[in-house]
Amino acid sequence: MTMDALRRSGAWGGVVEAFRERLALPAGAPTITLLEGNTPLIPAPTIGDRVGADVHLKFEGMNPTGSFKDRGMCVAVSGAVASGSKVIVCASTGNTSASAAAYAARAGLRCGVVIPEGQIALGKLAQALIHGASVIPVEGNFDDALGIVRELAETGEATLVNSVNPLRIEGQKTVAFEVVEQLGGVPPDIHCLPVGNAGNITAAWLGYTEALEVYGVDRRPAMWGAQAAGAAPIVRGERVERPQTIATAIRIGNPASWDGAVAARDSSGGTIEAVTDAEILDAYRLLASVEGVFCEPASAAGVALLLNKAAAGEVPPGATVVVTLTGHGLKDPDRVVQEIELPASVRAELDAVAPRLGL
Ligand code: F0G
Repeated sequence: MTMDALRRSGAWGGVVEAFRERLALPAGAPTITLLEGNTPLIPAPTIGDRVGADVHLKFEGMNPTGSFKDRGMCVAVSGAVASGSKVIVCASTGNTSASAAAYAARAGLRCGVVIPEGQIALGKLAQALIHGASVIPVEGNFDDALGIVRELAETGEATLVNSVNPLRIEGQKTVAFEVVEQLGGVPPDIHCLPVGNAGNITAAWLGYTEALEVYGVDRRPAMWGAQAAGAAPIVRGERVERPQTIATAIRIGNPASWDGAVAARDSSGGTIEAVTDAEILDAYRLLASVEGVFCEPASAAGVALLLNKAAAGEVPPGATVVVTLTGHGLKDPDRVVQEIELPASVRAELDAVAPRLGL
């Protein structure tokens, strides 16, 4: 059945079930699922008008734990169970830990997450905690944390579920399959997305490459990746020792899938560019206020890049553009309150409320 038919029938069984034969899972691996995937591709007509293109938002915030990580985590955890692993570990800027914790709970595994102290949006931290993960904040950044869990996993006692685990990439590539299906069997001309540890751009490109065969499409989109200006190692061509950005999800100075991102950029005729925090926040507010879609700040980086490219006259008129919105806005409500002042209270009387509405 196609994804569409599955959705209509109400029988969507998640990423592993829908795409198992494409996923390089060991034979006999169980299907660990929270019914992730099959996320909406939402038209963005107002932003489309602004950039002169046909823009769609692949809203990965609609996954069970609120980010695209679920797409890869279900496959990685299915693989971990198949290999007899009892413990999974990851480093995270937040979303990977939320997803790992949920899927570990589902599969009955222990989960350890190592996170940069003080740099995780509260919603994500809450998720890791409530799902029962052992959360270990370290006095360092994501890159330090990843180094630690890589070493931990080398002991063979725990499975690493960061995107250096190939099964994560396998799962995340399915976003491209869904986009091709949702666009009626054709790929977009351009696919924009934020780049942090660079697993996702690597995975989406792999998916579009496989779509050539799976869906018989004859071309692949240009991949446009956005890094935060204070955390833009790939754009600068060198490691960033102290990455800084309000988009904490992509606050990464030494991406593990650096080579994959460069390959995706170059083979697709695409680009990886920096967007400033101010541009990210503008795009974040624009998405919420004109399209009604609330994503987290890092997720808005792809839209920020698209707006920059349009301003530079570099968006081909009428192009079909898909932008991945990687995580849900509710992950990080603190950011809204920092951007928009909470209104003061008034007396609980009509005459106090109505003027505030200009009525
Ligand atoms: N957007 C969000 C919301 C993310 O959480 C991440 C990565 C990215 C974009 C970038 O994706 O790393 O594949 O290039 N978050 C990781 C984490 C690092 O630990 O949750 P990437």
